[in-house]
Amino acid sequence: MLSQEPINLDKVKEEDLDKEILRLGMIAELDAVSLYEQLAAKTKDKDIKKVLLDIAKEEKTHISEFETLLLQRDKEQVRESQKAREEIKKLTGKN
Ligand SMILES: [Fe+2]
Repeated sequence: MLSQEPINLDKVKEEDLDKEILRLGMIAELDAVSLYEQLAAKTKDKDIKKVLLDIAKEEKTHISEFETLLLQRDKEQVRESQKAREEIKKLTGKN
């Protein structure tokens, strides 16, 4: 993603704006985790690898921070997440 918004927030309805901002935040953090882990896998420098993996871990915290705020505001997402957990348990037998 590297700092470009994938959607135009000016066209989002006012009542959906915060949810979209939080979703975009999650997308950016997921993208950052992927980037840092890929870069860590590429470098041969142990210090750079260590820092990249530490930062990737911090980005996972950021994903959850945005997700927590989103779930407070999007009850449909809460219900669908519960359905998804039930479906996964049914399909795999694991939680
Ligand atoms: Fe972050």
